[in-house]
Amino acid sequence: MKHIQIDHLNFELFIDYEQIKKRIRLMGIDISVKYADKNPVFVGVLNGCFMFMADLMKQVHVPCEVSFVKLASYQGTQQDQIQELLGVGMDLTGREIIIVEDIIDSGNSLQHTIAALEKLNVASIAVCSLLMKPDCLQHAFDNITYVGFEIEKEFVVGYGLDYNGQCRNLPDIYKNIPAVGE
Ligand code: IMP
Ligand code: MG
Repeated sequence: MKHIQIDHLNFELFIDYEQIKKRIRLMGIDISVKYADKNPVFVGVLNGCFMFMADLMKQVHVPCEVSFVKLASYQGTQQDQIQELLGVGMDLTGREIIIVEDIIDSGNSLQHTIAALEKLNVASIAVCSLLMKPDCLQHAFDNITYVGFEIEKEFVVGYGLDYNGQCRNLPDIYKNIPAVGE
């Protein structure tokens, strides 16, 4: 399937699953080398990370643990507020943490996740994101160590990423394209 339509928006195939898998294999090797003997904890940020987390874990060949957090953002009076819906549920004291994200856009949610984990006396925090939009970043991070693909300022769906809750189940990633005549 090269093109799909959701709610009158058009999307075209952007990164296919074969490319995604190849990239993840390399990311897994990088992480396995760096974290051998460190027993890291991978902390996935739901919902978007679920496919990436599953494939990434199959390419990490060192002892490790896996957990998830779930955050929800809503419009507050001052700024976007972020609420924790599901906590990490384990003791992270002294642990080496790798946050697993589907995509980093503005970096707002990542900033919140990092701040929350920093309070738990962890040993270190690295970030592993399948996608990143460098032109959209609104914060400076020094720990975004693993990025699958840097993409332009464009809206993507599939492989865990959604539009209005749809398309998370697609194995490939699609990007939004203007409708004919736009
Ligand atoms: P942030 O702007 O970096 O805080 O990104 C917040 C969240 O917006 C991400 O975790 C995604 O769930 C969602 N998001 C950002 N860009 C896209 C996109 O292109 N497609 C689907 N979801 C996105
Ligand atoms: Mg997300």
